[in-house]
Amino acid sequence: MRLDKYLADMGIGTRSEVKQYIRKKQVTVNGAFPTGAQQKVEPGQDQVLFRGEPVSYARYEYFMLNKPGGCVSAVTDRDCPTVLDLIEEKSRRDLFPAGRLDKDTEGLLLITNDGMLSHNLLAPGKHIPKTYYARISGEVTKEDVANFAAGMDIGEKKDTLPARLTILSCEDGMSEIELTITEGKFHQVKRMFEAVGKEVVYLKRISMGGLKLDDSLKPGEYRALTEEEIAIIKSRL
Ligand code: URA
Repeated sequence: MRLDKYLADMGIGTRSEVKQYIRKKQVTVNGAFPTGAQQKVEPGQDQVLFRGEPVSYARYEYFMLNKPGGCVSAVTDRDCPTVLDLIEEKSRRDLFPAGRLDKDTEGLLLITNDGMLSHNLLAPGKHIPKTYYARISGEVTKEDVANFAAGMDIGEKKDTLPARLTILSCEDGMSEIELTITEGKFHQVKRMFEAVGKEVVYLKRISMGGLKLDDSLKPGEYRALTEEEIAIIKSRL
């Protein structure tokens, strides 16, 4: 890989900025000044320093974010903070959210630059399970559980696929539930409850494709996935 690409990929600067750094002898490769921006380096083998600090190459990065309410699942937005604004310790500048949660939804969102993993995770044919915790205005009943399991009309061409609804508690006209769905239609969870005359008042995704939200992460906090978690999510695809 060219040295200027290596440095630009790791967020040191734009391609033209890093060329200047190389020219100004602010970069070394294995202790020597490089011959030029086009010099080839081997990620993981050659030692690249910028202003004396090592720059290691991360081809892919994977972060688990506990998305807070009030930010959008996008890379940039004119009006709102985005989930990418929350990721401060990124090396790569090509990160994006793998999937979407509504602006008011909280919980597990994978942030990565691995396009293939994201594509597979979201591909409709893969039926990757996603589990949500929700508080519902209304008393969720056994009939609702049966309706969700059978598949229901939410105004799409086809009924929803069977979904597993578990009632956690139900009192004073409010219910707490967990719901696992294997598709990702627009506002799907909210529309499924609307279809049975109830309203989702709080929604949080707690797992996706075998990856569980780390419950030590407060809304807005994130951490890198462990090697084991990356392996788990890849094994489910
Ligand atoms: N279903 C919804 O209605 N909203 C989300 O954010 C995710 C699933």
